Amino acid sequence: MASRKKFYVTTPIYYVNDKPHLGSFYTTLVADVMARWHRIKGDDVFFLTGTDENSQKSVEAAKKAGKTVESYVNEMATIWKDTFKNLNISFDEFIRTTEERHKKGVYEFFKRVNKKGDIYKGKYVGYYCVRCEAFLTKTDLVENKCPIHKVEPNILEEENYFFRASRYKDELLEYIEKNPKFILPEKRREEVIKYIKTAMNDISISRQTQEWGIEFPLEKGQVFYVWFDALINYLTGIGFGWDEEKFKRYWPADLHLIGKDITKFHCAIWPAMLLSADLELPKHIYIHGFWTVKGEKMSKSLGNVVDPIKLKEKYPLDAIRYFLVRQIPFGEDGDFDEEALKERINGELVNDLGNLVWRVLSLAEKFTGSFEGTPELEKYLNLEKIEFHMENFRVDLALQEIWNFIRQCNKYINEKEVWKLSGSELGNALYNLLESLRVISILLYPFMPETSEKIRKQLGLEKKLDLRDCVFKKFEGRIEKREILFKKIEN
Ligand code: MSP
Repeated sequence: MASRKKFYVTTPIYYVNDKPHLGSFYTTLVADVMARWHRIKGDDVFFLTGTDENSQKSVEAAKKAGKTVESYVNEMATIWKDTFKNLNISFDEFIRTTEERHKKGVYEFFKRVNKKGDIYKGKYVGYYCVRCEAFLTKTDLVENKCPIHKVEPNILEEENYFFRASRYKDELLEYIEKNPKFILPEKRREEVIKYIKTAMNDISISRQTQEWGIEFPLEKGQVFYVWFDALINYLTGIGFGWDEEKFKRYWPADLHLIGKDITKFHCAIWPAMLLSADLELPKHIYIHGFWTVKGEKMSKSLGNVVDPIKLKEKYPLDAIRYFLVRQIPFGEDGDFDEEALKERINGELVNDLGNLVWRVLSLAEKFTGSFEGTPELEKYLNLEKIEFHMENFRVDLALQEIWNFIRQCNKYINEKEVWKLSGSELGNALYNLLESLRVISILLYPFMPETSEKIRKQLGLEKKLDLRDCVFKKFEGRIEKREILFKKIEN
């Protein structure tokens, strides 16, 4: 038997100083869509997500909550994990950076990089914004102040260990050149190239003044800089340092999904780290935009976050999933607006999809003949185009193309006036429509798993899904009890 293709997809690991909001759900949702798509393709899929717990943000948040850092991060990690489960995210592994297996992998990774001669001790003299808990460079400053907190940063002097990232500049630029789909979308790729050429320096990877974090092996009293340990989660989450076999099975990652604010870390520092450790680079890094509210980034500090769990109490989860994927071209920013969500529910989910399923099933239920005929609707199904969009991670366009097919099915009913047909003519029309619904139920699965299951149940089809079944065959289902898929949202 030919061996299955593997597909390893990751999300960023999330800071635990807050619970998930719609922005963080978004990255994870797209990863879920990709994972489910590859599962129905028959691939050997691994989908990793998790939490980034060694940050100073954890310390501050714990202090505020009056808890020890350990108990705070434990509680928050559970909240993140449960929230994702609640949102039907089908992750295979949830990695926490305070876990022993992660630490083990970080030490193993560090050993390799150190052996390569890429670690050196130096003095860090630079700007430090205490409120951000981050080092800033001169170019970050606006009128000599931190651009976020509008205060003058301190000058900080620390004895740190550095990673010689600059050594890999040329190799990295060459790799990016040779692999045009390594960094997507294209406009981000250009930004990365510019950054590597003009601003990429060695980075300080240890901290002298912090206590919370993974102990730095070369000097007591120092801990790893949180970004250095966090990036390594993509390796430790699949066994690096603790399950070599599993690691070999899935690395390199096929897709890292990230938001645009963490591009430099993922597209410059991370690949440099991997080159130093003699590990393969990920195949694709796709950078998406931000969800905004009235034009401003959705974030805790601005107090404009949308809670996906609260939203789920008001709208069906699959409708939210549909909306998030469909609303913005993947890679761009987009404004979140509940009115737009309602419009899409009432238009696309109730009218297009819901009506189609309801109409076909009511006709099929009464029909006593057999559902047989010649495929007439199949030609409107552009499976190649859908696959093309999914291969290019344009989940929004894939969904749009599926909708083109759904609309064609409705058009078919109207143009043929199927409700007026009888006998073999009706049998033929219903054959076409039922097979279309069966195919639609497969294609919708990655985006709206519950809806897919509901459609299949009404058609009396088995649960197992396979993308290769998206061709018209003999209809082998059985018409079961009808169920409304989506209810109209009244204002
Ligand atoms: N912990 C780091 C990532 C380390 S990965 C090795 C981090 N965490 S985060 O919780 O701040 O952000 C995680 C992801 O959520 C990022 O990809 C970020 O872009 C995304 N989003 C946060 N707010 C967002 C929006 N308003 N809209 C879309 N995505 C957003 O960075």
